[in-house]
Amino acid sequence: MYQVIARKYRPQSFDDLLNQDHIKTTLRNAIEQNRIAHGYIFSGQRGTGKTTTARIVARCLNCVQGPTDKPCDQCASCLEITAGGSPDVIEIDAASNRGINEMRELRENVRYQPSRDRYKIFIVDEAHQITSEAFNALLKTIEEPPEWAVFILCTTESHKIPATIASRCQHFSFRSVDFNDLIDRMREICVSEGIDADDEALAVIAQSGEGSVRDSLSALDQAIACCGNQLEAAAVRTLLGAFGIDAMAQVTTALANQEGGTMLSLVDELERNGGSPQHFSRELSRYLRNVLVAKISGAESRLIAASPSERAELTRIAACFSEEDLTRYLQLSLDLFRDLQFSLQPRFHLELGLLKMVQAGKLVAIEEALANLGTAPPPPPRPSAPPPTAARPQTAPPPPPVRTGPSPFEADRLKKAAAPPPTPPAAAAPIPSDADWRARLHTAMVETGLQFSADAIAQSDAALVNNELVVTTQKQFRLDLGRDEIATALKHLGHPALRFKIVIGEVAAAAPLQKPAPKEDEVTERALAHPEVQRFREVFGGDVRTVRNLKEN
Ligand SMILES: Nc1ncnc2c1ncn2[C@@H]1O[C@H](COP(=O)(O)OP(=O)(O)O)[C@@H](O)[C@H]1O
Ligand SMILES: [Mg+2]
Ligand SMILES: [Zn+2]
Repeated sequence: MYQVIARKYRPQSFDDLLNQDHIKTTLRNAIEQNRIAHGYIFSGQRGTGKTTTARIVARCLNCVQGPTDKPCDQCASCLEITAGGSPDVIEIDAASNRGINEMRELRENVRYQPSRDRYKIFIVDEAHQITSEAFNALLKTIEEPPEWAVFILCTTESHKIPATIASRCQHFSFRSVDFNDLIDRMREICVSEGIDADDEALAVIAQSGEGSVRDSLSALDQAIACCGNQLEAAAVRTLLGAFGIDAMAQVTTALANQEGGTMLSLVDELERNGGSPQHFSRELSRYLRNVLVAKISGAESRLIAASPSERAELTRIAACFSEEDLTRYLQLSLDLFRDLQFSLQPRFHLELGLLKMVQAGKLVAIEEALANLGTAPPPPPRPSAPPPTAARPQTAPPPPPVRTGPSPFEADRLKKAAAPPPTPPAAAAPIPSDADWRARLHTAMVETGLQFSADAIAQSDAALVNNELVVTTQKQFRLDLGRDEIATALKHLGHPALRFKIVIGEVAAAAPLQKPAPKEDEVTERALAHPEVQRFREVFGGDVRTVRNLKEN
């Protein structure tokens, strides 16, 4: 019967196991020194050797010549463990035996001595799937295990193992296997299977596993089944639905030339060939990530899983872009990938995502733009932070409301739930007694458009006497400075309830008031005419929303 490659070439000793050096060393030493723990947790991505290592440990412990880190491979124990039929090595798939009954049974089983061998070894696969009650049942056993019991919990999600269990186990994290080591292993396998595979094809197969040896070996099986004894990159790529670097380079070429049209045809071609937008965008992210890494660390970086010819290509492509551009593209491609997971219109989303990338290429780095301005401009005023000394800004619009309290909906709900609170009196601004009331009224009148009243108050007097505002003016201003105008100004100043009276009388030669602030459009006009501002707008585009006169505020 045909045995799949992943099983046929399952490592039988620490020497055969790829990578995971830290784990191999520690376990070897423990076995050599006879310091075997009762509980181990093997965690890590799928297909990186957890179950394999657990079985190797079992052979090391139970080999007739053991405990040894080099099991003999010939005794009954070794052979049975390899075949999966040893009475003293119990493999439990927690994905299907996760309940309390299974764990009770296991607890019973632990109590009996091994039937033949030194140790009784329980290998629990997918251990994170065990229910919490079942974990509790297991805990008793792991707390006080009989001397012959060894538990090896294998899991892809070690954080789901309860702390009570984890703290009684030694923990090993399995890493994803090095790309080049994996390719070398596959080349050996191809040689012994009589398969002629080119390097590029092996690279494609290795990549398709995304770090899982098992997945890569399954892909190798699939490739052999489909292509026979001769594996070539192009055929393997088509089979595995992988996009070659050429296909991906079309995207970066379009980005370099800012061709939205090419992007649309790419999507169209993908659609007509029955390609999946999700898959494409995933491959695109991977590709852009590799270009970015090539830009930053060089294409020879071990962070990139690629064949030599692909590396050369990555170098060439990376040279066409700045690091900032590539970072932005990668971000956009990841956004696109995420959006596509939920999209009902994947094609449109893909088109949109690719077009966004084209547009993102037109952005200029801010340092560059500033350098192009020639003279260094003053830092643009931050609209959200007015200078603390600013009094009432004359031309700035009120700042956007910052919501700190509950949302309107919450507020509404709260209001409905509670009895209507007594409406507090409108909070009036504190009344400054020693202020220059004439100037304040003047400003308020200018701001409320009462120009005649403003002119009149400029030649009058105003002062606070016993909490009442006394406005002294001359007869000829009586009409311009009526009660209504003053009330409006006071309201504008935040003192709607302040009492006031108008007295007609002699006004001592009034000191001239400061020239009222120029009108908004005058200031704006002047600011926009400034050459630096004009250059700024040329470079950055956009609208000028607010012009504030910092000197006069
Ligand atoms: N580190 C490794 N070195 C060599 N082969 C490996 C390695 N990890 C996985 N494999 C291969 O993948 C197959 C599955 O490995 P396995 O140990 O069951 O993975 P896991 O339990 O981590 O999901 C093995 O039969 C072996 O062929
Ligand atoms: Mg496993
Ligand atoms: Zn043996």
